[in-house]
Formats: sequence, C-alpha cells, structure tokens
Amino acid sequence: MTFLIYLAAYLIGSIPTALLIGKYAFGIDIRDHGSNNPGATNTLRVLGKKAAIVVLLVDVGKGAAAAALPLILNAETDPLMAGMIAVAGHCFPIFAGFRGGKAIATTAGVLFAANIWMFLIAYISFVAVIYATKYVFFGSLSVGASLLIYSLFTEGTEHELIFSIFLLFLIFLHRSNIRNFIDKNEPKINDKRLKND
Ligand code: G3P
Repeated sequence: MTFLIYLAAYLIGSIPTALLIGKYAFGIDIRDHGSNNPGATNTLRVLGKKAAIVVLLVDVGKGAAAAALPLILNAETDPLMAGMIAVAGHCFPIFAGFRGGKAIATTAGVLFAANIWMFLIAYISFVAVIYATKYVFFGSLSVGASLLIYSLFTEGTEHELIFSIFLLFLIFLHRSNIRNFIDKNEPKINDKRLKND
C-alpha cells in the first residue's frame, strides 16, 4: 500500500500547473520566460496576479492532497513521507520532462496537511524573510533552514528530520537565484524586470 501511495503522490506532484496555465491560457512555455521556473513566483512575474494565484493554489493543493492520501486510504504511511514524494514529483515531474519547480508551494501544502507546527515555522519564516529582503528566493531558502534548525534542536520524529534534510535540496534548486544575486541580477518580488525577455 505504501508503494502505491508513494506512486500516486509522485504523479500528483508531477502535475505541471504553471506549465499548463502558461500553455493553455496564454500560449507560452513559462520555462522560456523570466526565471524559467514553472512556479507561482515566475507566473506572477510573467503572467500576472490571477494566473499566479491559480498556480499557487493548485501547487499547494497538490501537496496537501498527496499528504492526505494515507488518511483517505486509512493506510499507515506517514503523510509527511507521502508529501515528500509529491514535492519530488513537483521538482522532477514525469509529465514535463523532469523540469519542474522549486518546491515551495507544494511543500506548504504538505506541511499544512501533515504537520501544522512545521508549516507555521517554515512559512512564518518565509513571509518574514521576504518582507525583510524583498527576495522570494531568500524566503524559500529560509523554509529549508528553519525546518532543519527545528528538526536538529527539538525532539522531533525521524521523518521530520528526513523531510528537513531532503529540503537541503532547495539550495541546489535555487542555484540560479543565488548566482543571479551574486551578479546583482536577481529580481525582487515587485520587480517586473525579465532577464530573458
Ligand atoms: O519558490 C520559488 C522562488 O524561490 C524562486 O522563484 O521564479 O524567482 O526562480 P524564481
């Protein structure tokens, strides 16, 4: 049962929301514009607020749905682990050539459904860091950092630690943002500047 849940979670996570909205509502491949990232931040930058809200809600919903699978199916699988597989699907989607997003919205849905404390720690940090720096990627990296600190310094479960270590991957996913920031080329949240347009 756990394998089937993981498979379903991966397929749910693999739904390429930003790609579908870009393609069918605007006729573009979002991965050819802005930061090239098929996520809510780049959708906001390239396609505007309404499209970004849809992408955000669906991507959050994918994470929540995957984490809810064990509960719905009355299985013993840890919702956090099912959610982790969905995040992997979001980042490496089978339906989009394994070129996916940067994990933040889907992780929010997973934690909201599976572990409300981790959700609060990570996303209060996310909002606070973006508010302070105006850079979304700093907020995203703070999601991983805050969860790792939480897992290392509290008596959390093994799966909480695994999830937090898994999110170290955020550094790799945000390597282009880090490079752009060093080159003074990373757009702030309210910056309409598109690097590739
Ligand atoms: O969560 C994604 C965000 O951290 C960065 O998005 O489009 O600026 O690369 P983007």
